[in-house]
Amino acid sequence: MTTTLTLIQPDDWHLHLRDGDALRAVVGATAQQFARAIVMPNLKPPVVNTAQAQAYRERIKQALAQAHQAGEIDDRAAAFEPLMTLYLTDNTSADEIRRAKASGLVHGVKLYPAGATTNSDAGVSDIRRTMSALEAMQEVGMPLLIHGEVTDSEIDLFDREAVFIDQVLDPLRRQLPGLRVVFEHITTSQAALYVRDASVGDSAGAIAATITAHHLLYNRNAIFKGGVRPHWYCLPVLKRETHRLALLEAATGGNSRFFLGTDSAPHATRLKEHASGCAGCYTAPHAIELYATAFAAMDRLDQLEGFASLFGPAFYGLPVNTSRVTLARESWEIPQSLPFPGDSITPLAAGETMQWKLVA
Ligand code: DOR
Ligand code: ZN
Repeated sequence: MTTTLTLIQPDDWHLHLRDGDALRAVVGATAQQFARAIVMPNLKPPVVNTAQAQAYRERIKQALAQAHQAGEIDDRAAAFEPLMTLYLTDNTSADEIRRAKASGLVHGVKLYPAGATTNSDAGVSDIRRTMSALEAMQEVGMPLLIHGEVTDSEIDLFDREAVFIDQVLDPLRRQLPGLRVVFEHITTSQAALYVRDASVGDSAGAIAATITAHHLLYNRNAIFKGGVRPHWYCLPVLKRETHRLALLEAATGGNSRFFLGTDSAPHATRLKEHASGCAGCYTAPHAIELYATAFAAMDRLDQLEGFASLFGPAFYGLPVNTSRVTLARESWEIPQSLPFPGDSITPLAAGETMQWKLVA
C-alpha cells in the first residue's frame, strides 16, 4: 500500500477567505497547503471593481505576513499567491472587464444569481442584463465563474443545478461560444456529464468545473445522520449517492476539464449551529487530505496530481507550481474547533480520524 505521496504543490481554484479578523484567522490554513487560490469576491459589500480587488489582495497579503510573523505559517506558505476575482452585477461595465484584464491581478468574474447563496443579494437578477460585460469577457478571454443554481423558489432545492444547466448555462454558451466558463462546485451527474461532453470549437470557449472535497466524500445523508448536522450544509447542497459517484468518476478520471476547488467557506460555529444556519463547509485546514481520501477510495491516487496541480493552471493559463508537497498515510484527528474571531470555527468532519496527513 502507498505510504507517502509527493505531488506538485496544488492550488485551490475556488476559495472564500472573508476579510478582517476572519481573513487573518483562516488564510494561513490555505497557505500551508496551496500555492495559489482563486479568491471569491462575495464580501460585504462585494468586490465589484479592479481597485477593490487590488485592495483586497493587499489585505490578504498583509494577513499572510502577520501569520508568518506570528510563526503560524512557514516560509513556503508566506509566498501564497491570491488570485483575485470580481463579483458580477447587473451594472458591471465592459470597461471594468477590460480594466480587470489589464491589471493582471483579476483572473475571473463570478456570477452569483441574486439570492442563490451567502452574500449573493447584489448578484445578477437576470443574465440578460450582463451581456455587455459578458461580451467583453469573451473578447478579452476573462473566465466566467458560475454559481450554477436557479433561484426560483418553485424549483426543488435539489434540482436547482440541473435546471440551471438547461435554463441558463447551455443557452448562454450557445450565445457566447467563445466565453471561457468554470462551472463551480458541481454537485450533480447532470453537471458532470454536461461539462464532460460539452463541445468546444477551440480553447477560447473552453469549459471546466471545480469539485469540492465534501461533494466527493459525502452524499446528502451526511446532513441528517443522527440529527441535523449543520456543518455538512453548503450550497449547492449535497446530493444523493448517484451524483456523488458521478463526481468521483469525473474527478478521478484524468479529464482535464475537472479540477480542485474546495469552496472552503468559513462561518463562525454559532452561525452554523443556528435556527437559520449559514451555508458553507470549512475544509481549508485538511483540504488536500480530504481529496486524497476520496481518490484513495477509488484507488486512483495516481490521478490526484492532475486534478489538484495540473489541470487548473492549464485552464487559467498560469504556470504549474515548482514546489512539491508530501502526504503520508498517518492517522490523526481533525480538531473539534479552531480559533475564529469572537467565537470558534468548526472544520468539516471535526473529531473524525483522517488517514492521510500533509507532512511537507
Ligand atoms: O456553501 C456556500 N457557502 N456556498 C456558496 O456558494 C457561498 C459560500 C459562502 O460564501 O459561505
Ligand atoms: Zn463558493
